[in-house]
Amino acid sequence: MPVPARVVLVTGCRSGFGLLAAVELARRGHVVYAGLRDLDTAGPLLQAAGGLPVHPVQLDVTSPDDRRRAIERILAEQGRLDALVNNAGIALGGFQEQLELDEVRRVLEVNVVSVWALTTLALPHLRASRGAVCNVSSVAGRIALPGLGLYAASKHALEGMTEALRHELRPFGVRVTLVEPGPYATDIMERNRAVCRRMHEPDSPYQPWVRRGEELEARVHERLGDPAQVATRIADLVEAPAPRLRHPLGFSATLRLLFRWLLPFSAWEAVVARVTRPGAAAGPQRR
Ligand SMILES: NC(=O)c1ccc[n+]([C@@H]2O[C@H](COP(=O)([O-])OP(=O)(O)OC[C@H]3O[C@@H](n4cnc5c(N)ncnc54)[C@H](OP(=O)(O)O)[C@@H]3O)[C@@H](O)[C@H]2O)c1
Repeated sequence: MPVPARVVLVTGCRSGFGLLAAVELARRGHVVYAGLRDLDTAGPLLQAAGGLPVHPVQLDVTSPDDRRRAIERILAEQGRLDALVNNAGIALGGFQEQLELDEVRRVLEVNVVSVWALTTLALPHLRASRGAVCNVSSVAGRIALPGLGLYAASKHALEGMTEALRHELRPFGVRVTLVEPGPYATDIMERNRAVCRRMHEPDSPYQPWVRRGEELEARVHERLGDPAQVATRIADLVEAPAPRLRHPLGFSATLRLLFRWLLPFSAWEAVVARVTRPGAAAGPQRR
């Protein structure tokens, strides 16, 4: 049966999953508002859209004014909002003792607080349309690894918030989902790769583990997934009439979740210690 056209807001569309999901949704006939932290960076999105109805909208998710104006513009132009995809996000590498307060606050502000703020602004309209919320989490929202603690904290928080939101919105017919990708080839691995300022302090006691983490990361980079797979799943979830809550994506995410589920924590902890030990020979992917 054909799916009716929906009005969808996707955040973080300069690159990666957001750009690809916006284009995929437009290709399926939906009206897409694609949030950008800076409208001057719309070039790659518009080129990928190739004339499909993708409307770039100014939306730094941390800006209260941008959030309000983006929702107001969609309602003024379309009269409704059917789906919100909270995709914008940042990563942060670093052992917790190395992090500084502004770095911790920034990750939580972008990945958690802004998602809550934009979603709650959109909710009256999503309730009216019996719409959908799709939040882009990570396998790091289920499994926390050393050197990525704050990123994991932000995605664990997003998972908790989203699970509760699903219960809260069920009576109103709003469908709430989480995608949980493993490692995929997007700008978060290159242009937007972020580590804390003190990551490479030479006298840090964590230096051997930092170097080991970088070896593992290089191995991860050799087998990143195709981000189009995540974009397709996001578009499927916007359209799905009764999707389940969690959607792990990618071989490594699925495998790690399976092991984490099967093993008692003590056994899992031993595996992580062995793989991340400086000088260890092999290991699983990290993000
Ligand atoms: N790729 C992976 O392996 C992977 C795995 C698991 C989860 N994820 C999650 O997937 C989501 C998308 O990331 P990606 O992999 O597609 O990486 P990406 O290519 O770096 O995309 C992230 C997008 O978020 C935007 N963004 C960052 N801060 C923002 C802000 N304050 N306001 C609005 N937009 C902002 C970025 O814009 P600018 O470039 O202009 O800052 C960029 O467009 C993130 O939530 C990430 O945590 C990614």
